[in-house]
Amino acid sequence: MPHGVVSQTPEIELSIRPATIADAAALSEFGARTFFETFAADNTPEDMRLHLQSAWRPELQRAEITDPTLDTLLARDAHGVLAGFAQLRADHAPAGVPTSKPIELKRFYVDKPWQGRGAARRLMEAVEARARVRGARELWLGVWERNERAQAFYRKCGFRQVGTQVFVVGTDPQTDHVMLRELGV
Ligand SMILES: CC(C)(COP(=O)(O)OP(=O)(O)OC[C@H]1O[C@@H](n2cnc3c(N)ncnc32)[C@H](O)[C@@H]1OP(=O)(O)O)[C@@H](O)C(=O)NCCC(=O)NCCS
Repeated sequence: MPHGVVSQTPEIELSIRPATIADAAALSEFGARTFFETFAADNTPEDMRLHLQSAWRPELQRAEITDPTLDTLLARDAHGVLAGFAQLRADHAPAGVPTSKPIELKRFYVDKPWQGRGAARRLMEAVEARARVRGARELWLGVWERNERAQAFYRKCGFRQVGTQVFVVGTDPQTDHVMLRELGV
């Protein structure tokens, strides 16, 4: 960097670790809040309420954290503040897309203060490492057709669109882009 230029995106310190059941309540709050902040403007209050109630409760996250088919990775900053999380679902294939050993990136969220600062890339590297430990050959995900920021990020990470699927928010069936990248060996 040239002398005198101050970086707007300084390296941030993050530790990324598998969640334990002690994290269930914090993850539940974080997941509900970030989903709301990302999508509330584009959904009815009732659909948001139904979705949040069905997906984000501490007992649900406790079950997810102990589910052997799921990996839940939490990213915390140097002060222990939750900055993001990712969830992987092993051996789950996208419908109608040929794969050999797929793993789904089921959820991937970075909180606003850490967006655009490289945290998402760090979390994605941890996701890829975990997917490889699981023996996966393809990493895939569904992303709302209107979530252009996330799609741009996934393209930067090497994903390409291979199809579409439906994701229901409350009572609203929405179209997700299915995106996939080969992991290589
Ligand atoms: C999706 C997410 C993980 C990406 O992390 P991030 O730190 O924001 O990603 P980055 O800033 O590295 O990359 C986003 C890219 O989209 C671009 N972008 C931002 N807003 C955009 C928009 N409205 N349309 C298109 N591109 C956009 C950015 O410029 C950036 O590209 P660049 O690096 O070439 O400038 C993060 O934004 C997030 O968690 N969002 C809320 C939850 C969410 O949507 N999760 C995904 C669910 S599938």
